[in-house]
Amino acid sequence: DIHLKSSPLVGAIDEGTSSARFIIFEAGTTTVVASHQVELTKQFPQEGWVEQDPMVILDAVYTCIKCSVEKLSDLGRSVDEIVAIGVTNQRESTIVWDKTTGVPLHNSIVWLDMRTAQTVDQLLDKVPNKSRNKEYLKPLCGLPMSPYFSACKIRWLQDNVPKVKKAMDEGRCLFGNVDSWLIWNLTGGKNNGIHITDVSNASRTMLMNIDSLKWDPTLINFFEIPKNILPNIKSSSEVYGEVQEGPLKGIPISGCLGDQQSALVGQQCLKSGQAKATYGTGCFLLYNTGNVKVNSTHGLITTVAYQLGPNQPPVYALEGSVAVAGAALSWLRDNMSILPHFGRAQSIAREADLIVGGDVVFVPAFSGLYAPYWQQNARGVICGISAETNSSHIIKAALEAVCFQTRDVLDAMDKDYGRRLQNMQVDGGMTANSLLMQLQADLAGVTVNKPNMAESTALGAAMVAGAAVGCWDIVNTPLEIPFQTWSPRYTENERDVCYVRWKNAVERAMGWDI
Ligand code: G3P
Repeated sequence: DIHLKSSPLVGAIDEGTSSARFIIFEAGTTTVVASHQVELTKQFPQEGWVEQDPMVILDAVYTCIKCSVEKLSDLGRSVDEIVAIGVTNQRESTIVWDKTTGVPLHNSIVWLDMRTAQTVDQLLDKVPNKSRNKEYLKPLCGLPMSPYFSACKIRWLQDNVPKVKKAMDEGRCLFGNVDSWLIWNLTGGKNNGIHITDVSNASRTMLMNIDSLKWDPTLINFFEIPKNILPNIKSSSEVYGEVQEGPLKGIPISGCLGDQQSALVGQQCLKSGQAKATYGTGCFLLYNTGNVKVNSTHGLITTVAYQLGPNQPPVYALEGSVAVAGAALSWLRDNMSILPHFGRAQSIAREADLIVGGDVVFVPAFSGLYAPYWQQNARGVICGISAETNSSHIIKAALEAVCFQTRDVLDAMDKDYGRRLQNMQVDGGMTANSLLMQLQADLAGVTVNKPNMAESTALGAAMVAGAAVGCWDIVNTPLEIPFQTWSPRYTENERDVCYVRWKNAVERAMGWDI
């Protein structure tokens, strides 16, 4: 009976820096039917280096798929109901592998990794007129020169890992961010796997032209990267190929988005002027600018948000990327041992208000500072410590740092776009901390809206995948997701007093490691 039949299902692979998930949604809704998550660790082989094993990432994704599909059948539903798969992923992290064996040629160099600081210095020497202008390539790719982006990581691998160089010279090497690595493996791997990426991921490499959405010869020449290692650039919503093996065999992969862009879509920020911030390891604020590409002159980056089909125009976003948000709490827990676990951050930080303890400001510039400063030589500082300061003040300062960094980004957006953001959608693990949400509203002067549906990132990937096969009407039927709101309580003056202290501390963090 057609009336009893439930809607088709759409699966989303969400491969982030700290975990992989597979989430099965009912098409056109926020309903999660089944899901599974596997935590991932990072390796730190040298100071400032951050790596992950691509095979571990792949295995984690396979485990998530297997377990979710089992949970689906436990519910009496079948994998045959899944009509499309979307992929969303940690961006910039760089993987190179041998296409004849399928074996990675090096660990993934994770987006946070700082090893390419010197590579960036050498590349800056190539900028004409000895200007060393970090923004030299920005008109072409939307990004400043920074260790963050993939091209610098590929350059480093070419220069420092002989087996990568050899595989490149012999035409055996493929490059991809995590999206390309997963899709290549799922669609057959060394047996004709499809080597693609989407415009949102490609816009983070420094190699794609932000206007033409194609690999740009000037950029490729500047970094001296062989073009044949690069994946084909596709839209974010179209059928790329089918899964070749395992429980999802035969199901089309039809959506792909970088995780921050995916959260923008999942938060239903599909109109120009809408914005979201995702608080995870880092914090990423994306502001939808519609079909207009806004060039930031205040330290933000221009990125492709999504392209809903090969014949659709791209939608752009201004992005403020903050390297360290939740990572500061991990540091307080793992390195400083003053935070038992994340769940306690809120109650301990509240104690800070009960005891005088100095006006502590913590700038967690562990990986330099990203937006809007782009200072790879910045390092962390904690200022304003007095004899009364205790761990609660430091933990509260770590939360406030997230809020101040978001204010830095909001101020830059205001200057670039001439419009102050009044409302901001939020998601990510740290939004479970309601003290942080209130501090964010107070310290940045913005109303914070948190949807009751926590999986914005996976939802975005499911939406674009479903749209490509015609079972999800993204544009005409936006989802109405209930949300919780925090409004600013501070006066403008109170807010500015706090912010001046932050700016002073940032000055001290800059240029520390010279
Ligand atoms: O640009 C890096 C970003 O995509 C990482 O996101 O959520 O995996 O930490 P996440």
